[in-house]
Amino acid sequence: MIIGVPREIKTNENRVSMTPGGVEALVARGHSVLVEHDGGLNSGFTNDAYKNAGATILNQVSEIWAKSDMIVKVKEPQPVEIKMSKPGQTVFTYFHFAAARDLTLDFIASKATAIAYETVQDKHGTLPLLTPMSEVAGRMAAQEGAKYLEHRMGGRGVLLGGVPGVKPAVALVLGGGIVGTNAAKIAAGLGAQVIMMDVNLNRLRDLDDFMPKNVMTMYSSASNIKELLPQVDLLIGAVLIPGAKAPNLVTREMLKLMRKGSVIVDVAVDQGGCVETCHPTTHENPTYEVEGVIHYCVANMPGAVPYTSTIALTNATLPYVIKIADMGPVKALQSDPGFMLGLNMVDGKVTCKAVSEAFDLDYSPAASVLT
Ligand SMILES: NC(=O)c1ccc[n+]([C@@H]2O[C@H](COP(=O)([O-])OP(=O)(O)OC[C@H]3O[C@@H](n4cnc5c(N)ncnc54)[C@H](O)[C@@H]3O)[C@@H](O)[C@H]2O)c1
Repeated sequence: MIIGVPREIKTNENRVSMTPGGVEALVARGHSVLVEHDGGLNSGFTNDAYKNAGATILNQVSEIWAKSDMIVKVKEPQPVEIKMSKPGQTVFTYFHFAAARDLTLDFIASKATAIAYETVQDKHGTLPLLTPMSEVAGRMAAQEGAKYLEHRMGGRGVLLGGVPGVKPAVALVLGGGIVGTNAAKIAAGLGAQVIMMDVNLNRLRDLDDFMPKNVMTMYSSASNIKELLPQVDLLIGAVLIPGAKAPNLVTREMLKLMRKGSVIVDVAVDQGGCVETCHPTTHENPTYEVEGVIHYCVANMPGAVPYTSTIALTNATLPYVIKIADMGPVKALQSDPGFMLGLNMVDGKVTCKAVSEAFDLDYSPAASVLT
């Protein structure tokens, strides 16, 4: 199979969909990989590294789209990219169709095959191609929080881990899933006193078993949050209710309970945020202040660490890419029900129920259109 790896063109996107190691694995199995010139540069991978791995480097991205059976990307295709796609071509990337009407309609018209990272499930029902980015965002949340607590960044001037004789900062993590656990792990590793809240008692039991001693768990309720806010230096928002907007767990009024110069990192901002005063920010301008509390609400946190994020993403996507390349998309999807859930569109038909419902479009079950 011919696999295309274009440079990402969405603003501020520095990741690339495949490392040279991924190219090497595909080439070893007899496939060809076309990589756009300088496509991996922002992630730290040079053209020479790709060439040494066996890729062909092409200057014209249109040539990559024209020649490839499958395009592997990171972000949803931009309008100029959809124009280059062709019927029957597989595009494997994050699409998030249900949040983007124009993208959905344009991709239907292209008649290409959309396999979306975000809807692929593993045999446990979790989302293996979203997990690595949640791990990155969670770990970054603690790091960014520590940074903005510094006085020169507008924070309270508190060192997250304290020092002998001076108590550490208090970090409250709302949500004990992938983001929350990774955030808590890093904050605790730096020495902070961490409290994790969740509404899933079984999850709290697990966390209590394996998290370090300086992490305690509490049930997530408005009264528990209010009780803690006056002592919290860093609040990390990491809740998710699948398919729904994040619940507002910290209202504008509750911010008044926090000390000036405390920091909120609302990672759940991409689902509307779990802090009422949160709105999306960018890496160029990541923070703003409300009631004296610094808000960091970058919607694409992994974009700041493209080297790590690219490798983490390729680790997760490569087995699926290899499967499609070896078996062809139809057999690959049919061989794995969780992978089949990744199929969002084929030949102009919508095969993902959530996407069809979002825009009142006809729904065609994947099994019925894949023959
Ligand atoms: N900003 C970014 O760059 C970025 C990157 C990755 C993920 N995210 C977002 O981070 C959020 C968390 O992702 P995740 O992978 O950790 O999800 P997850 O499903 O692993 O964890 C979410 C947790 O929230 C808990 N929860 C639900 N309601 C709650 C409540 N009222 N109080 C406390 N906890 C509650 C759930 O029980 C679950 O344990 C999502 O919105 C995700 O889209 C953002």
